[in-house]
Amino acid sequence: MSATISVNGRITGERDAVISVFDHGFLYGEGIYETMRTYQSRPFLYERHMRRMRRSAELISLELPFSDDELAARIRETTDAATLPDEAYIRVLVTRGIGELTYDPHATPTPSVVIIVKPHVDPPRSAYEHGVAVVIVDVVRNHPGTVNPMIKSNNLLNCALAAQEAIRRGGFEGVMRNYLGELTECTTSNLFIVKDGVAVTPPLAAGLLPGITREFLFEIGSEIGIAVRERTLKDADLFGADEAFLTSTTREAIPIVTVNDRRIGSGTPGPVTAKLLAAFRRAAEEARV
Ligand SMILES: Cc1ncc(COP(=O)(O)O)c(C=O)c1O
Repeated sequence: MSATISVNGRITGERDAVISVFDHGFLYGEGIYETMRTYQSRPFLYERHMRRMRRSAELISLELPFSDDELAARIRETTDAATLPDEAYIRVLVTRGIGELTYDPHATPTPSVVIIVKPHVDPPRSAYEHGVAVVIVDVVRNHPGTVNPMIKSNNLLNCALAAQEAIRRGGFEGVMRNYLGELTECTTSNLFIVKDGVAVTPPLAAGLLPGITREFLFEIGSEIGIAVRERTLKDADLFGADEAFLTSTTREAIPIVTVNDRRIGSGTPGPVTAKLLAAFRRAAEEARV
């Protein structure tokens, strides 16, 4: 891994990118982030990522110290300084900043802004060609009244614990339920099933991150005549689906072929998933913003 990092505007390699242990991002996990990637060297769906970042910041009462254009310029500075054989992975983190050991936000008047840029690495081709195995994990997704999953928060313990369970059980991803037992999303991606030709994903009210890829897929679906809907999903809906897939910025749409070792549909990547993925890629390659 060779990353180029901007810490409050100072661009270095990964060894020299340092942040104070008194940063409240480190001390308390108080901060928010976005993960983007480029297509044709341009951050894809940048405005949507910025919209979500502002909403995340608002939900933790953090004022972002830049305009969208200013941040775009800082990202460009960082990608320009990086060695990128192809496309870039871009992670932007904003924390509460450095201050005394107190939760009082007055102690941290200046947010810290970190931009991590590294080469984007596609998931293995086999994941798209053969699909992946996922497991439904016992770790429950945060109740929206605690740390709301709507916040793309640097405090990732909920997802990290769920991912650890998935890894232990041999899953490519872990599907998390909410406190009502309804399906929500995976630990780093959103979940879709396909039933009778319709792609269905749990509603935001189930308590999940409003994925940018998820959001974009509603539009892609309507362009190519595949209905994409929100509906409450339970375990039985997933086990009884014709197809299933997961979505994220870095993984686009990956077919799910087994859940807890049980085959989904035919146990191979399905045609609706393939059509949505192909249309998504076309849009991305056209570098629509
Ligand atoms: C918990 C969670 N859900 C969903 C997603 C997918 O979101 P996006 O499509 O914006 O990458 C992510 C991405 O990292 C995530 O961490």
